[in-house]
Amino acid sequence: DFDAFDISEKLGFVLEEPLTNLPDYYRIWIDLANNLTHLIESHKLRGLVDQMPVLSPHYLRSHHELRLAHLALGFLSMGYVWQEGENGAAEILPKALAIPYWLVSRRLGIPPILTYADSVLANWKLRDPTGDMDVDNMELIFSFPGGESCRGFFIVSLLVELVASSGIKGALEVMHAMESSDSISVQKGLMTVTDSLKEMKEMFKLMHGNVDPSAFYGTLRIFVSGWRDNPMLPNGLLYEGVSSEPILLSGGSAAQSSTIQCFDALLGIEHKEETSAFLIRMRDYMPPTHRQLVETLSVCPPLRDFVLSNANDSDLRQAYNTCVNALVDLRNYHLNAVAKYIIVPGSMAQSMGCPMGGVSKEQEPIGTGGTNLMVFLKTARNSAQNALIEER
Ligand code: HEM
Ligand code: ALA
Repeated sequence: DFDAFDISEKLGFVLEEPLTNLPDYYRIWIDLANNLTHLIESHKLRGLVDQMPVLSPHYLRSHHELRLAHLALGFLSMGYVWQEGENGAAEILPKALAIPYWLVSRRLGIPPILTYADSVLANWKLRDPTGDMDVDNMELIFSFPGGESCRGFFIVSLLVELVASSGIKGALEVMHAMESSDSISVQKGLMTVTDSLKEMKEMFKLMHGNVDPSAFYGTLRIFVSGWRDNPMLPNGLLYEGVSSEPILLSGGSAAQSSTIQCFDALLGIEHKEETSAFLIRMRDYMPPTHRQLVETLSVCPPLRDFVLSNANDSDLRQAYNTCVNALVDLRNYHLNAVAKYIIVPGSMAQSMGCPMGGVSKEQEPIGTGGTNLMVFLKTARNSAQNALIEER
C-alpha cells in the first residue's frame, strides 16, 4: 500500500534521506540557496539572479534530484519576490528561475512555487547522521531569514508530520477492515489514528520553545506568501519566458499537507462550500502520489455510514467519536497557535502604526495560503465537530 502511494513506511509523507547537493552543473542554484539568508538581508539576491544563466533541467535524473531542484528554486524564487518586503514585491520572475522551475515542476506534478512538500517534507538533514530525528538533531537544508525561528517552524512541522505516519497506516487498516465489515479491526485502526492525532498535538507544542512570535510574524512569514489571494501581488507573478500573462499561485501552508486531509476523508468530515473548495484546491500542491492517497480515502465506502449502520455496536461508535474528538482537539490547539503567532503580533504591529505594516494590516488578516484565516479555520474545526455521532 505504502509503496503504491510512494509513502515511506517509517516517515510517512516525509521524504526519506533528501539529497543536499545536485550535479555540479547546477552549482549556482545551490550556492545561492545555501547563502540565501545573507543574500536577502544584504539585498543582493535579485542582482545575482538577474545575472544567472538559464540552465537546462535536463541533467536532473532521479526523483530526489528533482525534489532538491524544486526546493532550491522555490527558496530562490520566494527570496527574489519578497527580498524588499511586502510592499516591494517583484512582479516578474526572471527566466533563469522561471524556465527551469516551470520544467522541473511539470516533471514532479506540482506547481512552480514553494510548497509544503518542499519546505517541510524535503528540507531536512541530521546534524549528527548517526543520531535521531529529534528537534535538536535536525537542521534545514535551506533557510529564510528568521534564524532559529525559521528552523523551528519548519522542523517542528516536520516532526508533527512524522508522528502522523502511524495514523496514515491506521487509516489504511480501517479502509481494508471496512471492506470485510470487520468491526474489531476497524476499531483497532481507529485507535491507531487517535493515538497518532494525540502525538501530533504533543509534538506541535514544541513550536512554543522553538518559534518566537515576532520573528515568525515579522520576518519569516512573508517568504512563505504567494501570489494568489494576496493584495501585495493581486495579479500574480509573471514567469518570464514561460507565459505572457502573470500566474496566480497560493503561498505555502500546512493546508497542503496530505495528512489531515487523509484523516478528514477517512472520518467523513464534510466541509462547507468555500472551505472545502480551498482544501480541494490545495491538493494540486501535493505530490501526485500523496494526492492519490487522499483521493482514494475520499472515495472509499464511508466509514461514518458504516458506524451509523452498526447502531448497536457502541464500542465502534465510541472509537469513531474518540477519533473525531482528537481531530477537533488538534484543530483547537492549532487555532490557539494561530492567535499567538499571527493575530497577537499582527494587532501589535497595527497598534504601533508600524510603517512596515502596509495596507493589508488594516484589513482582516490573511494566511500565507490566502484564506481569511480565523473564519476558515473555525469553519473547518466546526465541520469536524459536526461529524460526532450522538449516543443513543
Ligand atoms: C491552515 C497557521 C502550524 C496544520 C493554516 C492556516 C493558517 C495556519 C493561517 C490557514 C491557511 C492559510 O495559510 O491561509 C499556522 C501557524 C502555525 C501552523 C501560525 C504554527 C505556528 C501547523 C502545523 C500543522 C498545521 C504544525 C500540522 C498539523 C494545518 C492544516 C490547515 C492549516 C491542516 C488547513 C485547515 C484545516 O484543515 O483545519 N495554518 N499553522 N498547521 N494548518 Fe497551520
Ligand atoms: N500558513 C501560515 C501563516 O499563514 C504559515 O502564517
